[in-house]
Amino acid sequence: MRDLLPPQVAVAVAEPPDFTAPLFPAEQAALTESAVTSRRHDFTAGRVCARRAMTTLGLPPTPVPSAPDRSPVWPTEVVGAITHTRGYCAAAAARATDLRSVGMDAEHHRTLEAGVRRLICLPEEEDRMSRLPTGVSWPVVLFSAKETVYKVWHPVVRQWLDFHDALVDLDPDSGTFTARIAPARVDAAEVPAPPTTISGRFVVEGDLVRTAAVLHLP
Ligand SMILES: CC(C)(COP(=O)(O)OP(=O)(O)OC[C@H]1O[C@@H](n2cnc3c(N)ncnc32)[C@H](O)[C@@H]1OP(=O)(O)O)[C@@H](O)C(=O)NCCC(=O)NCCS
Repeated sequence: MRDLLPPQVAVAVAEPPDFTAPLFPAEQAALTESAVTSRRHDFTAGRVCARRAMTTLGLPPTPVPSAPDRSPVWPTEVVGAITHTRGYCAAAAARATDLRSVGMDAEHHRTLEAGVRRLICLPEEEDRMSRLPTGVSWPVVLFSAKETVYKVWHPVVRQWLDFHDALVDLDPDSGTFTARIAPARVDAAEVPAPPTTISGRFVVEGDLVRTAAVLHLP
């Protein structure tokens, strides 16, 4: 993820021991009794990476519990994001005085079945993707970009954003994407200067699709 984010962002990618490392009590409490082992491991690696990223910024490694809506609760001076997908986990953090928001997502490079594709992609996006080079599952790149968009949007606006509320344009030459947020969502946002577009980067490497974006301070 380091290659996809600006230098103000500290990034940590999990190593195998991170999946079973100790948690802070406040983080442990966010894991329900019934969480399956794979979920425990993912959650744990995310928290270990979060504290490593904060340490890189020169900040104390503070607990990152989960809010009732399952979003991570970063210390007030930090903006950040966590992602995990089978065997891969990363966290990113920046000082809130440097950036407004950070988002990132990782997915396994795979084909999305038609039903899922309809839920994720707008007809205009399907049309654009049909003209992109072959050899890449563009719908999964689009899906990942939209999850990154949500992780950037939600901590700032605190409102839901549906997959059809962002029109994403992928540029394979530059490895960048631009998401235009539906005007109705922007108008309904109850924060000053809500984001209207979110720009980010993507890479497809090995069997992973990775996307990331930041929002600059208004
Ligand atoms: C929240 C969501 C984006 C997470 O993506 P995912 O691919 O399922 O899972 P990832 O492993 O990449 O990310 C999970 C992490 O996202 C973070 N997360 C959860 N909710 C979040 C939110 N509202 N805002 C920011 N980050 C959030 C958490 O840290 C979580 O890990 P944790 O539970 O271990 O703390 C996804 O589950 C979701 O709800 N999507 C629907 C909304 C959406 O994407 N709309 C598209 C708008 S264009």
